[in-house]
Amino acid sequence: MLFVCLGNICRSPTAEAVLRGRLREHRLDDRVTVDSAGTHGYHIGRGPDARAIEAARRRGYSLEGQTARQVTPEDLERFDYILCMDQPNLENLRRLGSGRSVEVRLFLDYTDSEISEVPDPYYGGDKGFEQVLDLVEDACEGLIRELRQRL
Ligand code: 4NP
Repeated sequence: MLFVCLGNICRSPTAEAVLRGRLREHRLDDRVTVDSAGTHGYHIGRGPDARAIEAARRRGYSLEGQTARQVTPEDLERFDYILCMDQPNLENLRRLGSGRSVEVRLFLDYTDSEISEVPDPYYGGDKGFEQVLDLVEDACEGLIRELRQRL
């Protein structure tokens, strides 16, 4: 399972941490490999944004140990699901292409929410990071439901 956003310091690290928590609760953590990456290289090698770390911590998730990296063509060969935070991320991933069958989708396809993209919180305030967590938690519910059927 690979989560993708733009910088790999806000949204996709948050999704990675929340899904790891859910997988542990459902004892699926040894069945699914979870990672995240960004379509751009601005923040390669850095840890997540301090605001994302703090917002996640308040809800009991740890972003510790995560380091930003950029998506590579090999990711399309390694992962079965690549879940993108917004439409431009999705288009960038589809442009990379792959010879094998891999689910490249918007992460919010797994919710009933009317919002189809996780809004970029980078230039906004703390509310944006709370909204990211709300949407990510919601989508993780749907994703766990699918994984429990598949695994
Ligand atoms: P992310 O947020 O894609 O959720 O990690 C962003 C991080 C950095 C930038 C934009 C969005 N940036 O422009 O540097």
